[in-house]
Amino acid sequence: MNFSGVVLVLLIAAIAANATVYFKEQFLDEDGWKSRWVESTHKSDYGQWKLSAGKFYGDAEKDKGLQTSQDARFYALSSRFEAFSNEGKTLVIQFTVKHEQKIDCGGGYVKVFPADLDQANMHGESQYYIMFGSDICGYSTKKVHVIFNYKGKNHLIKKEIRCKDDELTHVYTLILRPDQTYEVKIDNEKVESGTLEDDWDFLPPKQIKDPEAKKPEDWDDRAKIDDVSDTKPEDWDKPENIPDPDAKKPEDWDDEMDGEWEPAMIPNPEYKGEWKPKQIDNPNYKGVWVHPEVDNPEYTADAEIYKFDKVGVLGLDLWQVKSGTIFDNFLITDDEKTAEEFANETWGVTRDPEKTMKEKQEEDERKQREEEKNTKEEEEDNEDEDGDEDEGDEEDNDEEGGTAEGDDDVPKDEL
Ligand SMILES: *[C@@H]1O[C@H](CO)[C@@H](O)[C@H](O)[C@H]1NC(C)=O
Repeated sequence: MNFSGVVLVLLIAAIAANATVYFKEQFLDEDGWKSRWVESTHKSDYGQWKLSAGKFYGDAEKDKGLQTSQDARFYALSSRFEAFSNEGKTLVIQFTVKHEQKIDCGGGYVKVFPADLDQANMHGESQYYIMFGSDICGYSTKKVHVIFNYKGKNHLIKKEIRCKDDELTHVYTLILRPDQTYEVKIDNEKVESGTLEDDWDFLPPKQIKDPEAKKPEDWDDRAKIDDVSDTKPEDWDKPENIPDPDAKKPEDWDDEMDGEWEPAMIPNPEYKGEWKPKQIDNPNYKGVWVHPEVDNPEYTADAEIYKFDKVGVLGLDLWQVKSGTIFDNFLITDDEKTAEEFANETWGVTRDPEKTMKEKQEEDERKQREEEKNTKEEEEDNEDEDGDEDEGDEEDNDEEGGTAEGDDDVPKDEL
């Protein structure tokens, strides 16, 4: 190895050594996860989690994750790690999720809690720091939640981020940086980014409409006005409806019996509607009045919106109608590159074989359905042929033989 090679290796080692992984869970030790995760007992009927790679996967072992196993249930499970503060550091939250059941309605997100969470009592109202991940319900809700708790209040992202709604495994990554920028990635690709201040309502607006300013009373904001020199033509007014000139009094009309005959009314082709004067440019037009803005006295900048003091628990607290979602490959780190690499090493390796296996299953199912259909059609064809040949003969006898009349025959035959 030459000198620059050595430097490169050292550099890479340095970068890797600098990254801190706070939490990592891949479910690679069978039932081992049960000692690391705590099921909440806040409710008595939470849905059961099981370890599974699902119906199709890229690797039978690596793709094992936590799967929801009961329909129409709440789920509440969490895992603790050594508490940390993300002050001055990037925070990355990442996991994979697979809705192999063709999810109709249910959560695919995680919650990151303060270390003082009582895991055994975790529930939907437990205060969290961050909620992140997909949420699907029907056709209308297919989004990625990014919710941050700021001073005790949850704030939802103002942008709409669409989530994946197919049945394959996807990686969701949330990056939160100390410069108060963020990024959301799906499958290692950026789908949204921006700043905390722009994309959430953490703080009141920086500027407000000047309460002192008022539109001057003589401010003319009419771009067009009536042309006063324009007058209504004398022949303008015509009735809207006129008697139908083609209508004829029926021959058997009896004025005494039927009353006086009147022709039906029809729209008048000469009717011109209401007259309006021509519009001309308003010589006094001053444009649209813009309310001047001033600094909002309620606004105080906060450079620490991103900061969470004691991050300590990752939880799955969700509702699912149709179960079957698999969560896997959880990672919480302070390093974007490490997270990207981890996604590459997990999802990146198994995504293609997973897709292949799914497609093969679908192809096999399609073939089987076709075979069944063919067999059924053949059977029906055979029956039809029988029916054609024997109609009125054997079939009739068969039927009669099988019913009441036949029953009488049976004992006789047997005797
Ligand atoms: C992850 O994989 C992609 C695609 O192969 C590659 O471009 C990228 O550099 C990888 N990232 C890391 C951090 O290894």
